[in-house]
Amino acid sequence: MKTSLLIGLLSLLSGACWGQNPQNSHRCGTDSVQALLMGLPGYEEAWRDRMELLEDNIEATDISNRGECNNPLIIPVAVHFQGVAIDQACATDMALDQVERLNLDFAGTNADIAAWNAIQGQIWPAINNGESCICFCLASLNHPAGFGLGNGDYAVTIDQTAGDNDAAWSGYLNFWVREIGGGTLGYSPLGGTGNGDGVTCGPSFFGSVSCGGNAIDGTYNLGRTITHEVGHYLSLEHPWGGGGCASNDFVNDTPVTDGPTFGCPAQEFINCTDPVLWPSYMDYCDDQCMFMFSQGQVERMETYVNGSLT
Ligand code: ARG
Ligand code: ZN
Ligand code: CA
Repeated sequence: MKTSLLIGLLSLLSGACWGQNPQNSHRCGTDSVQALLMGLPGYEEAWRDRMELLEDNIEATDISNRGECNNPLIIPVAVHFQGVAIDQACATDMALDQVERLNLDFAGTNADIAAWNAIQGQIWPAINNGESCICFCLASLNHPAGFGLGNGDYAVTIDQTAGDNDAAWSGYLNFWVREIGGGTLGYSPLGGTGNGDGVTCGPSFFGSVSCGGNAIDGTYNLGRTITHEVGHYLSLEHPWGGGGCASNDFVNDTPVTDGPTFGCPAQEFINCTDPVLWPSYMDYCDDQCMFMFSQGQVERMETYVNGSLT
């Protein structure tokens, strides 16, 4: 069966794209999840096919100098809390806040893009931030049966799902919010399918709103774990790829770096050949010190979403 991310996702469109219109020890679990998925029957072959198609399509695309985002690609999101002791009102507040932040980050309309603009010319004169035309909406129509949700209700569930996959929620980008442990903030498949999969995030790193007894972390407090994981879901690797200065993340404008950067560097440093692009959402800095995707990263994500249409 051919997976089609966008066809699945588009059938559940529900509502305008908002956020578009302004208004150390932590590790990423994505590598190990990818290793696990690769072991499943048929997964690796299908995954390689998706990545090959992506490379072909990227060669045929050029988003630099693209104008306005007049025709956004809207991805419906469902949020599933698992074992987090909060009520529906708090869950909805957290979900709405996270989706709004995700939209701001993708569009490059996040308030702290100013921090990038202030240092870009000095440190990364050849690198531009990307403004994605992908946006996300917390779904509110045509929900699957059996979850007590009607039209007009947000796709937010509490303790009605388990694990990282639920076929009933195919066609959505799912956020599974539960304690992960082991210092992992979140994880995602590398290149999601829209067939009931999604990204997983610890409740203290999900969005920026503390409510109902769930407290947001002091450092990872701006919803950027989800921004990072959705980057993986849309096929972005870490800038250090498999690690080391000979690694590759398959994005042309992200300089190679030998491993993650933590904390808040605030100035230029080099560990391979060029200044590390530590402000990228795909690195590991504190939430307040990651504030951009590069154009190449945005191009790879948009090509991945568009490519799965055909
Ligand atoms: N996948 C990374 C992890 O699990 C997320 C890193 C996100 N970084 C952040 N500042 N929120 O730890
Ligand atoms: Zn990661
Ligand atoms: Ca690169």
